[in-house]
Amino acid sequence: MPSKHVLIVPSILSADFTRLGDELSAVEGAGADMIHVDVMDGHFVPNLTMGPFIVEAVRRVTDLPIDAHLMVTNPEAVVPSFIDAGADYVVFHAEACEDAGGLIDDIRRMGARPGLAVNPPNEAEMIEGHLARIDLALIMTVNPGFAGQEFMPEVMPKLSRVAELKREAGLGLLIEVDGGIGPGNVATVVANGGEAVVAASAVFGGGDAAAGVRALRAAIATAAAAN
Ligand code: DX5
Ligand code: ZN
Repeated sequence: MPSKHVLIVPSILSADFTRLGDELSAVEGAGADMIHVDVMDGHFVPNLTMGPFIVEAVRRVTDLPIDAHLMVTNPEAVVPSFIDAGADYVVFHAEACEDAGGLIDDIRRMGARPGLAVNPPNEAEMIEGHLARIDLALIMTVNPGFAGQEFMPEVMPKLSRVAELKREAGLGLLIEVDGGIGPGNVATVVANGGEAVVAASAVFGGGDAAAGVRALRAAIATAAAAN
């Protein structure tokens, strides 16, 4: 049976911003499937990064879907500006929102695909009740805030649990995994149910983003061939 296509999702957090357009064409040319934009507000996480204008700029130079990962408190206040900027998936943290169900519905009503993220210390139960209504579940394998942190293998049982819930209920959502992923551990992520893998350092950290994407793809293919 042919194995399912795993989506490679470069996070521009580690891109060279003086040449963002070139970085994006490199990853697109190497077969990346989606672009991940890490939005940090300095409150929900101790780092401050990008706003909707970056999504707008990315939108102008690629046709790949854009996945806006909102690591912000009060995500409901900023969701519309990311949708207007051209984000396809808008992903917020279950930890940051009291009425996740309401925001999921709002995102869909505004014309984007809703996603829900969960941090390493929190269990699958935190998002379980929403799986049928979201298009993407984002399982964090680092505590969000910075690129280049170490992958947390202890999150794998939660990833498998979400994959199992998806299978049991026959749901269509995409299971995305984010944090510390590289050629050395991407096979573990896929084996545990990851369908889309986010990578910042592994793609952009070495200075050759196309090679970064290809190395991830090769590691996935090697693992698939061995099974
Ligand atoms: C973590 C961000 C991740 C991060 C990944 O706070 O949500 O998307 O940029 O970076 P790497 O791949 O370097 O762990
Ligand atoms: Zn992210």
